[in-house]
Amino acid sequence: MEQDKMSIRAAVFDGNPEGTLTVEALQLDEPHHGEVRIRVRAAGVCGSDRHVLDGEWQVPLPAIMGHEAAGVVEAIGPGVRSLDIGDHVVIAWHQACQRCAECTGGKPWACTRAKSNDSLLPDGTTRWHDVDGPAYPYLAVGAMSEAIVVPEFAAIPIDRRVPFDVASLIGCSVGTGYGAVVNNARVVAGESAVVIGAGGVGLSIVAALKLAGASPIIAVDVTAQKLESALEAGATHAVLGGESLAAEVSDLTSGGADVAFEAIGRTQTMSQLPSLIRPGGRAVFVGLPPEGQPLEIDGLQLAYEGKTLIGSNYGGLVPARDFPRIATAYLAGLLPLDDLISTRISIDQVNEAFEAMRLGKRTRSVIVFDDDAAGTTERDR
Ligand SMILES: NC(=O)c1ccc[n+]([C@@H]2O[C@H](COP(=O)([O-])OP(=O)(O)OC[C@H]3O[C@@H](n4cnc5c(N)ncnc54)[C@H](O)[C@@H]3O)[C@@H](O)[C@H]2O)c1
Ligand SMILES: [Zn+2]
Ligand SMILES: [Zn+2]
Repeated sequence: MEQDKMSIRAAVFDGNPEGTLTVEALQLDEPHHGEVRIRVRAAGVCGSDRHVLDGEWQVPLPAIMGHEAAGVVEAIGPGVRSLDIGDHVVIAWHQACQRCAECTGGKPWACTRAKSNDSLLPDGTTRWHDVDGPAYPYLAVGAMSEAIVVPEFAAIPIDRRVPFDVASLIGCSVGTGYGAVVNNARVVAGESAVVIGAGGVGLSIVAALKLAGASPIIAVDVTAQKLESALEAGATHAVLGGESLAAEVSDLTSGGADVAFEAIGRTQTMSQLPSLIRPGGRAVFVGLPPEGQPLEIDGLQLAYEGKTLIGSNYGGLVPARDFPRIATAYLAGLLPLDDLISTRISIDQVNEAFEAMRLGKRTRSVIVFDDDAAGTTERDR
C-alpha cells in the first residue's frame, strides 16, 4: 500500500531579510479528492518569486517557492477523470474557482475566489508540512520541489514533444507574454510595439509580437546582453532605456507606438508607458510593482489623446485553451521558446539564479530535475 505522506526536497523561503532559500526535505501528503501529484521535471525562476524573496510582497511562510512548472502525473486522487498517470502537464498558477461569473464568463484570471493567491488549495488547506506545521506552496504551486500536489484543473496536458524546460515556461512567463499580446492587447499584423524590460516575460512578449505580425518591435532594457536576446527573439530594434526613450520611440514609430508593454514592475517605467503610445494607443501593464506604490500619469494627456490603459493578469489566459495553442505554435517553429532559456540549473543552485536575476544577468534560469528534462526534441519543422 502507498504511504500517505512522502519526503520531498524543495526550495523553501522562511522570510529571512537576505532573501535566500534553503533546499530541505518536507512532507507532502497524498492527493485528496480532485487533486493530482505531479513529478516536477522543470521549474522556471520568475521575477514574481524575486518580489517575494526581496520582501516586496507578503506571502504565508514558510513558502515553497516557484510557480512555473512542468512535469508528469504521478498519482491521482479520488474523483479525477481528465488525467492519467504518465500525462505530461503544465501547471496553471491562478487556480480559479471554476464557478463564479468571471470563471464561467471566460475570465478565470479575474476570479476573486481563487485561494491560490493565498498559497492554498481550493479547499483552503495545503498538502505540505515541515516539523513545525503546515508549509505553503507559493501560488498553490511551489514549483521548486521534486513533486507537488495541485487541483486536477490546474494541470493542463501538453504535447509530449515539448521538452519539459520549455513547457515549464508556458506556465508563467511565456503564457503571460503570449496572453498579454493576444488576449489583452489583441495586437494585429502591422501594428507597432514597444516592450520595456527584456527578461523572461518581456522576451516572451517580443516573441508573441513577432508571431502576431507586429512591426516595428522595439525592445528596451538597461543591459546590452538582454537587448541582444531581444533581437534574437524577434525585436526589430533594441534601445537602451533612459530619459530620451519617448523621443526615440516616437522617431521609430512616426509619433508613438500603437501598443506599449511594461515588463519590469518599476513604477517609474510604468508611469512612462502612456508617453510611448500614439493617440488612441494601448498601454499594457504586465510588470508587477512592490505593494503600495502608486503611479504618476498625466491625466489630461491620457483623456485628451484617448489612450487605453490595460492591466494584464496572467495574460488574460484561459490555460486549458491557451497552453495547447502556445505548444502548437512552438512545435510549428513559430515561437522560439528554446532561446528564452539562458541557464539550466539544479535545485541546489537556486540562490545563484536569483542573484543573477537581481543583477540583470540571465534571461531565464530553469531548474531541471534530471538531464533528459532539458533540450530540444523533435519539432514539426
Ligand atoms: N502580470 C502578470 O501576470 C505577471 C506574470 C509573471 C511575471 N510578472 C511580472 O513581470 C515582471 C518581470 O518578470 P521577469 O521574470 O521577466 O523578470 P526579469 O528580472 O527576468 O526581467 C526584468 C528585466 O527588466 C530589465 N530592467 C530592469 N530595470 C530596467 C529599466 N530601468 N529599464 C529597462 N529595463 C530594465 C532587467 O534588465 C531585466 O531584463 C515582474 O514584475 C514579475 O512579477 C507579471
Ligand atoms: Zn471564479
Ligand atoms: Zn511568474
